[in-house]
Amino acid sequence: MKSPLQIGLFGFGTVGQGLYDVLRRTPGLQSEIKRICVKDHTKQRPIDASAFTYSASDIIEDPDVDVVVELIDDADAAYEIVRASMKYGKAVVTANKRMVSTRLPELLELQRQTGCPLLYEASTCGSIPIIRNLEEYYDNDLLSGITGIVNGTTNFILTHLTRRGADGGYESALREAAARGFAESDPTLDVEAYDAAFKTVILTAHAFGAIIDVNSVVRRGITAIAPFDVRVAASMGSVVKLLSRVVIRDGGVSAVAIPTFVPEGNALASISHEVNGVRLDAAFSEAQLMVGKGAGGGPTASAVLSDISALRYGYRYEYRKLKGSEVPTLNNHVDVVAYVRGARSIIEAIPWKQRRIDVRSTDGDYIIGTVELSSLRESTAFDDAETFVALVLED
Ligand SMILES: NC(=O)c1ccc[n+]([C@@H]2O[C@H](COP(=O)([O-])OP(=O)(O)OC[C@H]3O[C@@H](n4cnc5c(N)ncnc54)[C@H](OP(=O)(O)O)[C@@H]3O)[C@@H](O)[C@H]2O)c1
Repeated sequence: MKSPLQIGLFGFGTVGQGLYDVLRRTPGLQSEIKRICVKDHTKQRPIDASAFTYSASDIIEDPDVDVVVELIDDADAAYEIVRASMKYGKAVVTANKRMVSTRLPELLELQRQTGCPLLYEASTCGSIPIIRNLEEYYDNDLLSGITGIVNGTTNFILTHLTRRGADGGYESALREAAARGFAESDPTLDVEAYDAAFKTVILTAHAFGAIIDVNSVVRRGITAIAPFDVRVAASMGSVVKLLSRVVIRDGGVSAVAIPTFVPEGNALASISHEVNGVRLDAAFSEAQLMVGKGAGGGPTASAVLSDISALRYGYRYEYRKLKGSEVPTLNNHVDVVAYVRGARSIIEAIPWKQRRIDVRSTDGDYIIGTVELSSLRESTAFDDAETFVALVLED
């Protein structure tokens, strides 16, 4: 690739502007933004209007553009941009986890057909270099599990609820997360754990070589949480975190994105605010933890920039694990320990295998016990807006 590298940028929001600033403040990167494609003609921009276009083809069909960097908040439009760019022979870098996780088979086929690389480190855990590590370092059969705080917004809210005693804190913490630029444009994606589920799919592919449908991730958000739940967790020596967790058991892989009681002694418990953390469990290296900013313009842009730099030396994902002979299949028929607080009739109806604790109180009734993950997901409790469901982490 030529120097300076010419970037065609799609999107000039939190991450797009973050990338612009990082490039401007870091001379010697040998990369410059040639053109920026945005959508809204009426928006005031902080830089000169001549930098912008509203036509995707101005970038995709520009022979001087070496790399297309896709940083928009619309997954379907993003896919069309990525597809057209690769068909035009461009390398692509994206941060769009929804697009990557829901279109992975098509994106693999596009890479095969066009020979163009597609990198997406920023899509999962912002600045933490997890995807490249999973690709390059960890051998498939040694990894047994991956557990992460992968969503900055929910970790920010849960940290506030835990530290401020929760009363009235949920809405203000969400507003603050949005104001600081690490909530998704549609915060439902964060608080209902869609974002964490998208990242779970990407982690599963790169950690274990299994492509799973995003709808098969057992997903539950944090909107039903009450101060009472935070206090119950504390009484058990735990804090509530939204965890993405993929675990190998009996040759299969179970995948969740769900609130979880995490014991205070577990390193993930102390990861607070918008910071993300990923714990990798492997046979010989045992537990390892990677921690870093998971959202926000600067941290996310740093991962985008790292991908751009990697393209210079011809880096691409090899997806070796996908081609392995022992790719695990999805298996959510595994036993988990769950905490469920809600109406008596609803929590009683869960097909518990064993009840450890059953509490009736004026603040709420709850049961902690063992249940099969897939049965929990199919229970009425799992879809009820008033019922809070969390797993209980015991390792
Ligand atoms: N924010 C984070 O911390 C973070 C972290 C990791 C990954 N990501 C991912 O990064 C991507 C961008 O997120 P963001 O927070 O930067 O979003 P954002 O602040 O909402 O900005 C979105 C940008 O995309 C542009 N856009 C939307 N549709 C377009 C289209 N069809 N053609 C051209 N431009 C279009 C918008 O244009 P206008 O300016 O004209 O409205 C805007 O500039 C998303 O995929 C997100 O999931 C974000």
